[in-house]
Formats: sequence, structure tokens, C-alpha cells
Amino acid sequence: MKVLVVGSGGREHAIVWSLKKNANIEKIYCAPGNAGIGLDAECVPIGAMEFDKLVDFAKKENIDFTIIGMDDPLVGGVVDAFEKEGLRVFGPRKNAAIIEGSKAFSKDLMKKYGIPTAKYESFTDYEEAKKYLDSQEMPIVIKADGLALGKGVLICMTREEAEEGLKEIMLDKKFGSAGNAVVIEEFLQGPEVSVLSFCDGKTVVPMVSAQDHKRALDGDKGLNTGGMGTFSPSVFYTEEMNEECMKTIFQPTVDAMAKEGRPFVGILYFGLMLTKDGMKVIEYNARFGDPETQVVLPRLKTDLLEIMEACVDGKLADMNIEWYDNAAVCVVLASGGYPVEYEKGFEIKGLDEIKKYNNIVVFHAGTAEKDGKLVTNGGRVLGITGIGDNINEAIKTAYEGVEIVDFDKKHFRTDIGRKEYKL
Ligand code: AMP
Ligand code: GLY
Repeated sequence: MKVLVVGSGGREHAIVWSLKKNANIEKIYCAPGNAGIGLDAECVPIGAMEFDKLVDFAKKENIDFTIIGMDDPLVGGVVDAFEKEGLRVFGPRKNAAIIEGSKAFSKDLMKKYGIPTAKYESFTDYEEAKKYLDSQEMPIVIKADGLALGKGVLICMTREEAEEGLKEIMLDKKFGSAGNAVVIEEFLQGPEVSVLSFCDGKTVVPMVSAQDHKRALDGDKGLNTGGMGTFSPSVFYTEEMNEECMKTIFQPTVDAMAKEGRPFVGILYFGLMLTKDGMKVIEYNARFGDPETQVVLPRLKTDLLEIMEACVDGKLADMNIEWYDNAAVCVVLASGGYPVEYEKGFEIKGLDEIKKYNNIVVFHAGTAEKDGKLVTNGGRVLGITGIGDNINEAIKTAYEGVEIVDFDKKHFRTDIGRKEYKL
């Protein structure tokens, strides 16, 4: 079998790494991939938004199965483009990926079907939004409706911040057309957990839980980033909570999408918060999380491709999906200055040495090849995943890896996996 993975980050590297365990796959391609992914798959220089070129490539190379990793192409309809040509592809169609692509859509869906989430109103008119804002208590949360590279959510502690934020989104169009509509919602508090799930349009199977650290600096300080590290399982998400979420959130969401004529096939990511009134949905994503995937997939015992094929064929209910009873921690090595300004092009050392450790996996996010050497090429450069019998062992292992790999201006958090909560 020949498989194509679309995307270029640590998440796609984790997908490729997982697929490599399947002996029936003779060749894995990744478009566009990165230098590190290129060590495990053949990278193809086609961008994730170049749908025609991707479809042509899949036809020409007789690709049997394509997996879309990223949100932009999914929301833009890449799955529809593949299906139109009779190609097998894993991911939600455009009319289902809207669950991530429009926050107003996802909030309305939750309201209509009684799925627990923060109270909200959505607006397309600035004056109306401003009037509503004036009537609300602070803190408040303002969200640009569309995709904004993970930056379109403003947590506003004061009225001034909220007014400024609303203007930036709706009038100054800081996030472009993503700000044509906004959701203004109640500020919630509590620990957060990411539960990713496999879906075939009817059946939903949650994966093992994960938590991420979004801020740039230790102690959850500094700016919001794409994610500085993750761990799995979550420290507070119990089996009972999972059963409860299955009844109140997971299955109701998949049923709601089917009822709306938008069956969800692919990975549905539930961003959840445990509030004093129980578990609530903070956000949906229509894809694997990054860097959640880098701790979830190493714990998957069942073959990933088999599960994905079952999703596409609507046969997920027949699958028995198994996980290792262990823990994983991913520490992101970033370029100093990320997420604002940073330099690129520094040589990465220690990658051969780290291969000797069978409980450490290195996932490449922003690397390139220069004069036969691997160099840094992005804000988030590598994710070092450590695997252990429990979280503490996994933390120890991941940080052993962090010591081995080195490059100029290396920045990482020293407290990944060490979150503590008072529930
Ligand atoms: P999102 O882009 O939707 O993942 O939001 C980014 C982050 O903003 C979430 O992970 C939460 O930490 C925070 N957030 C989003 N919505 C709320 C809310 N209603 N109350 C408090 N925090 C929120
Ligand atoms: N780690 C958060 C996300 O992938 O959206």
C-alpha cells in the first residue's frame, strides 16, 4: 500500500512514525513534510493548500490512502476534492470540518443539541457586539469566528481589554476574514484536558487523554504558543469522567453532526474544561492536536491505518482499539524568542546519539537540511517524547532526551507534565 500524509509539523511526523509500524505499507509520502519527516517518508514539494496538485499526485502515484493532518486544508474542502476523484482519504468533508472552521457554527450546534459549553452570543455587526459587551461582566472571552492560527481567542480581564480586542478583531481585521463574525462568551475556570477521538460518522471512540502547556515559559507564564509540551494521560481525567463525557458530549456531538447532514469522519478533538458545573466543551478541532498527537500515538497499540480505514468505511464499531497502559511526555524544543521573533539555521546536534534510546522518540516540527546537516527552521523545532511506565518516568526520560539534543538558542520549558490542580 502507498499512503500520503498532508502537513508539515510534529503532528504529521508522529502520524508518519505510527504508520511505519504497519508492514503492509510499502511507501509513505508526506506533502510538504520537513527535513526530519524526510528521514521516515518521501517528502513531496506540494503545499497543503494546493488541492489540485495533491489530487494529481495521488492519482499519478496510485496512492491508496491519504491522511490530512492540518486544519486549513480540511476547512477548505481538501477531502471533497479527493473524494470527487474517487480517492480514499481520511478526514472530515468541508461541511463537517466547519465544526472547527466556524466557532459560531460549533456554538450554535452545542446550543441546539444541549451539549454543555460556555454561555455565548455571536455577532456579525460591530455595534451590536459592542452593545452586548457593555451589558456583560468581566472577565469575558472574545473569539474570532474563523481560523486564526490558534491566536483568535482573547481572554479579557478588563473592559478596556475587551473593547480594544473587539475593535481589533471586527474593525481592524487583525485576523482577516476570520473576524467577520465573533463569539462573545462567558469566562470559565478549571483544568483543561484534550480528548481526541476517532469517528466514522456514527461511532465515536475516544483516545487516551492528554494535556498541553500553551504558554511559552515555566509556570504557565509568557505568551500563548502553539504548545510547548504535552503529557498523556491527563492527571485528573478519570474513567468515570470519560464515561460521562461519552454520554453528554462525545456521542451527542457526533449524532448532532449526522442529524445536520454533516457526518463527521476523521479525528474529532474535544477541548474540555472541568468547571464547578461539570465538564464543558471549550473548543472542537477537526484534526489531531499538535503536540497532543506526539504523546497519544506512541501509546496506541492497535494499527493506526486499520483504524483510519475503518473510519472511512463506516466500520469503526467493529474495531477493538487498544492502548498501552503507560505514559508519555513531549517536551518541545523551540527557538529562543518564539512565539515572537527568532533566528533559524542553527545546526541540530545529538540526533544520532538519541536514536540509541528506545523509549525516546524525536518528532520534527521545524527543521531543514543545509549542506547535509539538519538545521533549525521554525519556532517550534523538535518535540522530544519520552515514554515510561508512569508520568514521572516519562518526564525523566523526555528530559534525558532534551539534554542530548542541542542547538544554539534552544528554548524549552522545564515543567512539562508537572501540572498540579486543586479540584
Ligand atoms: P481555543 O483557541 O478555543 O483553544 O482557546 C484557547 C484557550 O483559551 C483555551 O485552551 C482556553 O485555555 C482558553 N479559553 C477559551 N475559551 C474560554 C472560556 N470560555 N473561558 C476561559 N478560558 C477559555
Ligand atoms: N494543541 C492544540 C491544538 O492542536 O489545537
